[in-house]
Amino acid sequence: MSDPDSNASLAATAPATAARATVIKDAASPSKSIPPSKAAPQSKAAPQSKAAPPSKTVPPSKDTRTQPEAVPPSKDMGPPSKDVLPGNADVAWDAFDSEEYFQHNYGQLLREDREIIQIVADHFQRYNAGKQWRDKAIDVGAGTNLYPALAMLPFAGHVTLFERAFTNRTWLTKQLSNPAGSWWQFWEAISSGREAYEKINKPFDMLDGRASVVKGNVFALEQNAYDMGTMFFVSESITTRLDEFRRATKLFVGSLTTRAPFAAAFMRNSSGYVVAGRWFPACSIDENDVRKCLAEVALIDDIQVVDSHDLREGYRGMIVATGRKK
Ligand SMILES: C[S@@+](CC[C@H](N)C(=O)[O-])C[C@H]1O[C@@H](n2cnc3c(N)ncnc32)[C@H](O)[C@@H]1O
Repeated sequence: MSDPDSNASLAATAPATAARATVIKDAASPSKSIPPSKAAPQSKAAPQSKAAPPSKTVPPSKDTRTQPEAVPPSKDMGPPSKDVLPGNADVAWDAFDSEEYFQHNYGQLLREDREIIQIVADHFQRYNAGKQWRDKAIDVGAGTNLYPALAMLPFAGHVTLFERAFTNRTWLTKQLSNPAGSWWQFWEAISSGREAYEKINKPFDMLDGRASVVKGNVFALEQNAYDMGTMFFVSESITTRLDEFRRATKLFVGSLTTRAPFAAAFMRNSSGYVVAGRWFPACSIDENDVRKCLAEVALIDDIQVVDSHDLREGYRGMIVATGRKK
């Protein structure tokens, strides 16, 4: 849908279902959940045979955690009424159940993510073929997803995992030192056949050395600060409001320096999602909305729709955009 800033149409078309991510016990309809990974061991990773090359810049990993925000005691089991369209600030993000979200989406490598990885890793390798070193990378709204950061790993001295939810920051901090086994499936998909990545023998040690978990809000994101960036399933999955989707998308690109490469992923026509029984908002956007929004701030390389239906109900595929900041 490409309606401007009108929320009225959203209200009419926003039943309760999920965004990407989610554990998908939909309050309104039966779960279509994907079985958790059978193969993925939960502790640190598969054997790393060769020594990893030393990283050039290894800033300390620090989590600027504070106490979680107050979370309403009862679970929010469904979407708001049609008269209430929650914006980002209306949501109890500190109640986000990290483990549930992780298990549902990243407990094993799904076909959708494999396709997204091909697009994103090729894009980053292409723009870094000249061995241009990028000091600072950012993944906005990292959640419980390490693969955007892994896709930037060979090219960036430091990766900021920028996240609003206390639960997700705590989860990310633990995963950096003790990554779940399923991340090896993602790394294999990222690195296979790509020289820049194949050179790295100990990707999770390198990520641990280069990444910081940082508390932050996309709506207050520092501009012109990062040399490459990712934002996966965030700007359309943190609000029901189209104006906030647009602001968050533009602020993400705005956080990058001129010509910095980026990749962003979006749920297509999402109507909201449920994680561990709690409803989270989304706004229903499609590839035209993404293009229109990005065109103002970015040189777009590619916008692709990735086929996806089975993660849950209430969405029609995923969208991947790659480009550089104008
Ligand atoms: C649907 S999840 C996507 C997580 C992850 N990027 C992925 O690929 O699965 C949305 C994420 O955005 C975070 N978030 C919500 N509001 C935010 C804000 N204002 N600024 C930054 N992150 C936010 C949530 O805590 C959550 O981790």
